[in-house]
Amino acid sequence: MENLRSKINDVAKRRGFYWNSYDIYGGLGGFYDYGPLGSLMKKNIVDLWLKEFVYHDGLILVDTPIIGPEIVYRASGHLDKFTDYMVRCKSCGHAFRVDELIDKYVETPDALSPDEIERIIETYNIKCPDCGGELGHVEEFHLMFSTNIDLGKKGFLRPETAQGIFVNFSNLYRINREKLPMGVAQIGRAFRNEISPRQGMLRLREFNMAEIELFVDPESGYKWREIPERMLHALRNDGRDIKISSVEACKNEVINCYISYYMARIIDFLQKLGIDTERVRFREHHPEELAHYSTETWDCEVLLSKGWMEVIGISYRGAYDLSHHMDYSGQDTRAFRRYQDERKIKIERIVPRMEILGPKFKANAQKIAKKLEEMEMEGDKRPLEIEVEGKKYRIPPDAYDLVVEEVKVSGERFIPHVVEPSFGIDRLFYAILEHSYYEREDSKYKVLRFNPIIAPVKAGVFPLMSKDGLDVLAKQVLSFLREKGVNAYYDESGSIGRRYARADEIGTPFCVTVDYQTKEDSTVTVRERDSTEQVRVKISHLVEFIRNIIEEKRGFKDVP
Ligand code: GLY
Repeated sequence: MENLRSKINDVAKRRGFYWNSYDIYGGLGGFYDYGPLGSLMKKNIVDLWLKEFVYHDGLILVDTPIIGPEIVYRASGHLDKFTDYMVRCKSCGHAFRVDELIDKYVETPDALSPDEIERIIETYNIKCPDCGGELGHVEEFHLMFSTNIDLGKKGFLRPETAQGIFVNFSNLYRINREKLPMGVAQIGRAFRNEISPRQGMLRLREFNMAEIELFVDPESGYKWREIPERMLHALRNDGRDIKISSVEACKNEVINCYISYYMARIIDFLQKLGIDTERVRFREHHPEELAHYSTETWDCEVLLSKGWMEVIGISYRGAYDLSHHMDYSGQDTRAFRRYQDERKIKIERIVPRMEILGPKFKANAQKIAKKLEEMEMEGDKRPLEIEVEGKKYRIPPDAYDLVVEEVKVSGERFIPHVVEPSFGIDRLFYAILEHSYYEREDSKYKVLRFNPIIAPVKAGVFPLMSKDGLDVLAKQVLSFLREKGVNAYYDESGSIGRRYARADEIGTPFCVTVDYQTKEDSTVTVRERDSTEQVRVKISHLVEFIRNIIEEKRGFKDVP
């Protein structure tokens, strides 16, 4: 199966999907360039994601900076907790992620403590994969890249796009007219200083994410879109490997309902991407494996040549992020829950006694009194510590009265919970390549079976012969397609069979050939990549014909 990976890497580099960055200097681990075809295909994946998740559900889209100040990542917990375990070889000094060293021996390497990992290394006599040397102790390695914002001010490259959404919650909530659930999406680069990445496009230090933060009221019950009924392959953290419908999973509380919704929608999305959903499962994290912000996480994994690989993670982040940003920023990041009927509640109000405060605090007494009036008080009268204009004052209990008042309230403030589906675009990109690749039995020619919506190039246009005006006509057909926004290319070199083979290798769904009949009746042949079947289509109908298939409105045989 590793063979498949090298075949894909070969096509990818030769035909311009991707290659290792800085290749002329020997490359740089964990950094890849998208070439001409890869860039187009990545854009198609992102466009489909926008359509399926953002436009479909009416989400808000934002675009926030890659670099953030230290306080943001202190508040988010990443500065303290965003680490992986590694070991170094005592002989050659090479470093390795421990999960990749031990995943042959344990099912959940991420759930183990350093002591447990060292015991596994000892038990199975695991040595350095590069030189066979002895491995050292398990060390913690911090995954964020740091930088300087200005002299002496530390900043970090974001390890996820999510924090750019959380810090903007209040503004977005206002823009959304204070309605929940509110879904906010962001697409962009994120950065993780992975330990010795050796898995090509599957483990990048700079990568592309598409994330959704769905803010919900935890007390309102499930209030999002209707859950489509889809069969899910779910591997639960108690080891049970089950098939369950998305609707049942929510109803029977096997999977959080918001997460069930996204699982069902993800199945549809993966199908449209051209990923074989028979080779897709959702794996629940063990409690010890959960990220610091999560209480429930399901990885959507795709079976690839190297085994099951996470391509999407869906986490229940609860109030973790917003409450931390509220603590660290001092800003109110709460939402408002309106009661059905106004409620009467009793509150305790502080009434300053000026006859005590005046003589005691003289010129400052008024300001202190104002501060006392603004304070919320709970419990019995007691000495209070307050701060006014940077100065601390101790207020004795006889300097104020506590008055109980009944007031009407229309609702209460609360910290929304967050459900987060987070998509790894580069891993999805690579998964599509593996699930699309095949070789023709008769010729061994390579084919990428891309769904038309994902294919970087939709059509190749070929003159049967590059003479008798067929080439001129074919170039006119090419211009016509391009003007109408269909990405197409022209090829007149070599036999028509070779031209088809070159087109198949980059996943072109349609090959349009201009032949002698074109001169008679303005029709062309259109060849479908996988069946190799051909139909004749009028040039004037060509764009509509191709668009209808891309949008899954018609099949190949439905010639207009
Ligand atoms: N925001 C999800 C993640 O960092 O994996």
